[in-house]
Amino acid sequence: MIDFHTHILPKVDDGSKNEKMTMNMLEKLSLQDVDTICATSHYIPDEYEITREKYDLTFNGIKSLNSKINIVTGLELYISPDLIKQYENKKIWGINDTNYLLIELPMDFFPIYAEDLFYNLKALGLNPIIAHPERNSKIIDDVDLLINLVNQGTLVQMNSGSLIGEYGSLIKKFAEKLVSMNLVHVLGSDAHNDSSRPPRLKEGFDILHKMNPDLYQWILENEKLIISGDEVNNIPEIYIKKQTFFGKLFNNKK
Ligand SMILES: [Fe+2]
Repeated sequence: MIDFHTHILPKVDDGSKNEKMTMNMLEKLSLQDVDTICATSHYIPDEYEITREKYDLTFNGIKSLNSKINIVTGLELYISPDLIKQYENKKIWGINDTNYLLIELPMDFFPIYAEDLFYNLKALGLNPIIAHPERNSKIIDDVDLLINLVNQGTLVQMNSGSLIGEYGSLIKKFAEKLVSMNLVHVLGSDAHNDSSRPPRLKEGFDILHKMNPDLYQWILENEKLIISGDEVNNIPEIYIKKQTFFGKLFNNKK
C-alpha cells in the first residue's frame, strides 16, 4: 500500500514537529503494511514556498534515519493559476519527481480557472491528482465539478480519514458515494502528526475494499505505476446512478 499524502517531514510545514514525531508516524505506517509514502509538504504560491534546497535537506535527513519504509518526494500544491509557470521554473515538483502533481483546492470554493488549469496541465504532459476533493463544499454540492475534471484525465486522491469518519458524517457519506462511483484513484492519510492527525491508511483501504473490490484492485495495481511515473491503466468507468422519474421529482421539490 502507498500513502500518497503525508506531512511527515519535520519542521517544514504544519505537519510533523520533530524527527521523533516523524519516526513515530513512520512506525505507525509500517504497522499498516504501508511500503511507500509520499512526503507531500505544503506549497502555497506567494505565501509558503518551500525551496528545493530546504526540502532536500530535511528529506535526506529522514531517509537516512529510516530503513522500514520507502519515502519518496512530493508536494501538496495549493491551486494557483501560476502552477504551470512554477513547474517550468522548477520551483515545484511532482510525486517522486515524476510528472504526477498533487494539487489541493480551497475548502469552500471552486476556482473559476480550475478546469482550464487541469486541462492545460494535461496538455503539457503533466498528470494532476486532485487532493481530497471529498472535503470541498462545492464538489459535495455538485459532483459534476469533479466528474468533469476526471473526464479530462485528472486523478483523485481521497483521504482515508474521510472514509473512517474523521471529518464528520457528511464528508464520510460523500466519500462513500465517490467510492461507489469509481471516483477515487489513490488514497492518502494526510497525516500531520502522531496524535490528533495520525496516519490511518489501512482502515480507509479496508472500507474501500469492502465497498468496491474492483476499484480496490485497480488502485493496488496502479499506485506503483504512478510512483514510477508511468501511465495508469484505463481508469475505472465512472458509475452514475440513473435517477428515476420519482427521484427527479423529489429532488426538484427539495
Ligand atoms: Fe495535506
